[in-house]
Amino acid sequence: MQNFVYHVPTIVYFGKGQVEHIGELAASIGRKALLVYGGGSIKQNGIYDAVIKQLKKCKIAYTELAGVDPNPRITSVRAGVAICREEKCDLIIPIGGGSVIDCAKVIAASVNYSGDPWDVVLDPSKVTDVLPIITVLTIAATGSEMDYCAVISNLETNDKAEFDHVKVIPKYSILDPTYTQTVSAYQTAAGVADIMSHVFEVYFKKCGDTYIQDQFMEGILRTCIRYGIRAVENPDDYDARANLMWASSWAINGMISCGKSGAWVCHPIEHEISAYYDVTHGVGLAIILPHWMRYILDDAIVDVFVQYGVNVWGIDSSFLPYEIANLAIDKTEAYFRQLKIPATLREIGIKDQSMFEIMAEKAVRGGLAKAYHPLDKQDVVKILEAAF
Ligand code: NZQ
Ligand code: ZN
Repeated sequence: MQNFVYHVPTIVYFGKGQVEHIGELAASIGRKALLVYGGGSIKQNGIYDAVIKQLKKCKIAYTELAGVDPNPRITSVRAGVAICREEKCDLIIPIGGGSVIDCAKVIAASVNYSGDPWDVVLDPSKVTDVLPIITVLTIAATGSEMDYCAVISNLETNDKAEFDHVKVIPKYSILDPTYTQTVSAYQTAAGVADIMSHVFEVYFKKCGDTYIQDQFMEGILRTCIRYGIRAVENPDDYDARANLMWASSWAINGMISCGKSGAWVCHPIEHEISAYYDVTHGVGLAIILPHWMRYILDDAIVDVFVQYGVNVWGIDSSFLPYEIANLAIDKTEAYFRQLKIPATLREIGIKDQSMFEIMAEKAVRGGLAKAYHPLDKQDVVKILEAAF
């Protein structure tokens, strides 16, 4: 197992009605909040009203940045920074999913930087003081509620860049599973695929004996498989929503990658798909993942696939190693189909392969050469072609 430092300071309020604490939490760290939210779902399902009620009760002033898109744009970040400065906000409250939270993180990190926030995204060393963040999560997927990452798109340059900085990790996160009961079946399924992908990015590598992490990861995967379909078929299933919500946080809050770190692969590839075609993150991942798994399966890693097949999918361990490995990949792919996630890039509207070369080139710059199973540009092109 590799050496590691583990520190996740986010304080989580989990469960029904936990929003009642948001006023007192906000009052403990600020006076005027910037509320950040997306296309309006929080107004339809009552979450907006619930937050406002508590802020008013605790006399927290607020102003708003609405309309943050899925795959959040740098233009929204710029708008948020301008509002924060003008209105002298000292606290940010994103209410939504990964897109809204990520946008809030980069606003928080850019308010005290005099240049363009895109510079901060590309070079986190420019970050100085960061505004504190309290998230109200409304969809189980990215884990942004408990990590120090944000992903921002720049439509002018077709870039979707990952930004990491320890200071943007949320101070508090409110995780009420009932808030996710209005998420559509499509977005629920995409979220499940995203959570599973965060585990796969860590799981399929070898860093010595990481038995404990592997057990955690297999538990998260079994949780996604058990409750993902339940949440898709019955949106009001509280237990399914609660288990998925907690799985979302633990898949990416750093715990599973302790002692098993290393470059991610499917995310840099998917981020290029999103950058060029603005697709739903979890859907892009679900399409790529099985093809990546088949591509990297070899003698060096087949035993990890066997472990996955036996421990996660319950495949008979007496089968031959490659039989188990291939069956496990088939089952992964079939599960995504059961969740009704599209199976090919063509199905999500990508009409031709004209961008694959440039996408592959940019994905490789995301560190794929340093992955456990390194990929070069032509490898990525082949995976994209297989997924087409
Ligand atoms: O905009 P609204 O109206 O809120 O609708 C959203 C949006 O259309 C809707 N939604 C969310 N909660 C809802 C709801 N609809 C009804 N009821 C609710 N309770 O769902 C749609 C998708 O929302 P979004 O925030 O985009 O989803 P997600 O959480 O999957 O975030 C995706 C973004 O996060 C990035 C992705 O690349 C993508 O840009 N990621 C961030 C990561 C991180 N910070 O650690 C890691 C991830 O791997 C990922 O890259
Ligand atoms: Zn992801």
